[in-house]
This record gives sequence, structure tokens and C-alpha cells, in this order.
Amino acid sequence: MTFRALLGGTLVAALASTAVPVFADGELNLYTARHYDSDIVLFEAFTEATGIEVNVIEDKAGALIERIKAEGRNSPGDIFMTADAGNLMSAAADGMFQSAVSETLEARIPENLRHPDGLWFAFTKRARIIMVRKGVDVEGLETYEDLADPTYADMICIRSSGNIYNQSLVGSLVAVHGEAATAEWVQGLVANMARDPESNDTGQIRAVAAGECDIAVANTYYLARLARSDDPADLAVVEAIDVILPNQDDRGVHVNISGAGVLTNAPNPDNAVAFLEFLASDEAQLAFAEGNNEWPTVDGIAHATVLDDLYGDFIQDDINPAVFGGNRADALRIMEANGWK
Ligand SMILES: [Fe+2]
Repeated sequence: MTFRALLGGTLVAALASTAVPVFADGELNLYTARHYDSDIVLFEAFTEATGIEVNVIEDKAGALIERIKAEGRNSPGDIFMTADAGNLMSAAADGMFQSAVSETLEARIPENLRHPDGLWFAFTKRARIIMVRKGVDVEGLETYEDLADPTYADMICIRSSGNIYNQSLVGSLVAVHGEAATAEWVQGLVANMARDPESNDTGQIRAVAAGECDIAVANTYYLARLARSDDPADLAVVEAIDVILPNQDDRGVHVNISGAGVLTNAPNPDNAVAFLEFLASDEAQLAFAEGNNEWPTVDGIAHATVLDDLYGDFIQDDINPAVFGGNRADALRIMEANGWK
């Protein structure tokens, strides 16, 4: 079955035929920082399969965290779902999640892609990689560490230190090299920036294609989205870009996640666990990852072919995102103290 067919209407039937647990009627209050139409199709499929109505509350991750905090014990929220381990670990540090106990989740989600205490589970993977303009001499640029090498002075475009993807990347360097070496790395990177940080990941990719800088750091799905665009200008951007998958001779590419966990004061905790189990089902994994050109976290599930076209197979850092997500505050402090605007 193709992705399109799944998303186009047979998903409900496909899900109904799988082992999604069936609970009595009820509801589920889902706080989500994801905003893809394909997610809504999935939630409807969950309702169809289980009878549980899904009430979706959408906002940015930070705003949802503040809202859940403010609602406290009276929060109607059952699930918090968001991109980036940094967001999940911030919520975890605030005591927002309870441990979900589920043999299904433990069997299906690899151990390094869920919180050690079951506070959250990862359902998609994305990588943060290096992109360069074709024809630019970047010989020797093979690792994240190399981005701080003076060889690449005035060549790099990257987002601000306020961006959580960067905080997680730096958090992963703290995990490997410690704080002092990471501070030095930040200084080198800042010295190599072609401009002060501005714009989003797509903006960095476009700036490289346009020659405003030579090297960008961006998440894999942004280039994939441009590659699937109908706009010839977007396709021309992709055509201008070469991809560097860093650290293939050591720990592998920095992989981040989107994930979800059961909230501490969830009024419907059983429904919440059923929903997480549903997200780990074959069909949901396929569609959920496809919706944003990401990789599923469950082994053996297909992914969008554009990812093979752009990236192929590569070695992924298998560090638990709980580690670098948990380093978020330290990472931000180091970035700000060393000149990363
Ligand atoms: Fe993003």
C-alpha cells in the first residue's frame, strides 16, 4: 500500500484491521505542538478504531508547557506531544509527565528512543546535518566538530541560540566532549558565521543556495520538503545543495525526535496509553513520519522515498535524546556566554 493511499482514506480500514486496543467510549485531550493535516487524519483513525474522541489543542511547545503548568492539577490534558527532545525534557524536568507502562511501547519503540522511566516515547526521527552549495570547496568538512575549524571562516549560516534544534545539537556535544571543549567549539563556530543568526532552517538552506553563505546546518525534513515542492524555485534550491552527513567515522549523525508522553494529571490515562500505542502501530508510524518527511522510530517501517534520494543510509548517533535534551539549559548558557546570538 502506498503512503498516498494510506493518507487518502484507506487508513481507517487499515487501522481497524490491526491490533489497536479497543477501549470503551471516552475522550482524550491532546496538547500538540505538531501541526500537520496528516496528523488530524491519524487522530480520526484512532477514534474510528477505539471509539475515543480526540480533542486537539494546538500551540507552540513553549506555550503549551506554560499552559499545562498554569492549569496544574486541574489540567484536562492527557498527552503532550512535541518535536525535539529539548522540549520533552523541559516538560519532564517540570514534573509534567507520568510513567506510562506498556509492553507494546517497550517492545516497539527502541530503548534509546524512549525516556528511561517511560515519561515520553519517540515516534519520529529527524537528523540535523550539514548542507553546502555545490562547487564550494569544503574538503575536510566531515564532522560537527569541523564546523569550528578556521578553514571555514565566514562560510556558515545557522539559526540563533534560541532555536531548540541548535540547543539539542550543542547538548549532544556537551555529552561527548564536556562543557569546556563545547564552549571552545561554540567560539570557533561563531567566528565562522557568515552573518548573524537569522531566519529558520529553510532560510539557512535558501541562503546557501543563493550564495549568501556556503555551509548551513539544518534538519533533514526541510530539504526533503523543498524536494517535494511543486515550485521550480524550490527544486532549484535542492539542486544547488550537497549534503554532508557528519561523523560517519565515529558516533554518527545527531538524531532528534518528536515524541509524546502521558501528563501527570491526565484525567484519561488509559486512553492516553492507548493513543501512544496507536502511534507505535505500523500504519500510524508510516503515516506519522510521512507527514513531515521523517523516519519512523519502530523498526522495519517504510519511510518517504525522498529521504533515500537525498540521504541514503547513514550511521546515526544512538545516544538517548533524554541525554542531550536534558543538557538543554547548559547548552544555552554555553552558547550565549560564547557569542552565539
Ligand atoms: Fe522544524
